[in-house]
Amino acid sequence: MKTIFVCSQCGAEHRKWRGQCNECKQWNCITEMTQASAAGASGKSQSKSAPLLVQVSTDVTSERITRRLTGIDELDRVFGGGLVPGSVALIGGEPGIGKSTLLLQAGKALAESGHISLYITGEESVAQVRLRGERIDSLNADLHIAAGTDVDAMMASIRTLKPVLVIMDSIQTVASEQLSSAPGTVSQVRDCAALLATQARELGHVLLLVGHVTKDGSIAGPRVLEHMVDTVIYFEGDKGHAHRLLRTIKNRFGPAGEVGVFEMRDNGLHGIAEASRLFLSERATGAPGSLVFASIEGTRPLLLEIQALVAPTVYAAPKRSTVGFDAGRMAMLMAVLERRIGLPLSQQDIYVNVAGGARIVEPAADLAVMLAVYSSFREQPLAQQVAVFGEVGLTGEMRPVNQPELRVREALRFGFSTIILPRANCERVQQAMPENIKSLRAVATIGDAVQQAGL
Ligand code: TYD
Ligand code: MG
Repeated sequence: MKTIFVCSQCGAEHRKWRGQCNECKQWNCITEMTQASAAGASGKSQSKSAPLLVQVSTDVTSERITRRLTGIDELDRVFGGGLVPGSVALIGGEPGIGKSTLLLQAGKALAESGHISLYITGEESVAQVRLRGERIDSLNADLHIAAGTDVDAMMASIRTLKPVLVIMDSIQTVASEQLSSAPGTVSQVRDCAALLATQARELGHVLLLVGHVTKDGSIAGPRVLEHMVDTVIYFEGDKGHAHRLLRTIKNRFGPAGEVGVFEMRDNGLHGIAEASRLFLSERATGAPGSLVFASIEGTRPLLLEIQALVAPTVYAAPKRSTVGFDAGRMAMLMAVLERRIGLPLSQQDIYVNVAGGARIVEPAADLAVMLAVYSSFREQPLAQQVAVFGEVGLTGEMRPVNQPELRVREALRFGFSTIILPRANCERVQQAMPENIKSLRAVATIGDAVQQAGL
């Protein structure tokens, strides 16, 4: 046995204990763990092992994976089109965001199609799970529930029940008496997850591990699991709103970045196929600083409302603050507005918000953020039926973005009759939908865009 020290935030390994992790710079997050000494370290054991089977790459036969559809479309979508047998996924999210609710629903959905599912809880009693299941109509004869925290006991139950789906809620509660590491430590979580994952791959069931995330957004403890699972999915959204986004961070069996949209109701989470309607439902009409951005989340188009508020500052250094958008990027865009079209923002506080608790990661939102700020500064609302997208460079030039046709089609579908987009994107869109040429306003610079928006 070898002792190493692991950071619970980023998973970095250190040879000595230290107060601060020198990888992620977090304090008090290093914990001790023991590692079985690497097999084959001694000469003897090496000579015993058979050589690896080496094959010509074109000769390797591959089985086609048949996925299991849960029937909850938004969930199947984030998994890349259903669950892959023998795969392991980590579902992260803040406490109370809806992980247990959604996974119980997933267990029921699979059970309904005749597959045995097992939901193991380490946080509640089976009676509590049953009560919740009743409330969200998620009980089924093929959905089994168990409460416990001992990993060996779990594995024994899984072996006898032979379920198609195992849900472990949450992985932080799992422990083992067999392991030398202390219960509740990062190393226990990692070792237990490894045992469960190995079993899932052997027996061929889908394993979903729930992981709680800390306030700063990282999965405490389970962060170290990210590299050993096939799929990592995070819950996003704030508890003050009813909608929740599931975002795929990593997926060995499908595209990363895919997004599923749900709404929390009295009887559980409901998938929302028409997500744009949800995000635009609370939109204030005719207010300065509000604008609709045609985004692409994963493979789906999504209309989001961007809001900006610009007000004279009372501070020595004006405040810049964003919710749902990168703060560094916003600072850059504001500098471009000042330098390229002379907007005097140096004495202004600026706030940018993506309405509804969504989070934007693509630069295609640049134009929307800049026009929203411009509109708020001038206290002039944009026309109601305008939607925009486009990346803006440091010289104020408009840059093309991916999937312009999808964005335009979604905006038109929701009644936006004027779409401002980068000139370099426009030709492709015109070819794809010549009947809508009148709706398109192609722009080459941010200055053009301000004009076209009527500001
Ligand atoms: P839960 O699934 O327990 O969250 P997690 O497992 O991520 O900690 O969700 C709990 C929250 O969801 C709780 O605040 C109540 C709310 N909720 C509903 O609004 N409707 C429902 O049908 C259920 C089951 C929960
Ligand atoms: Mg829970």
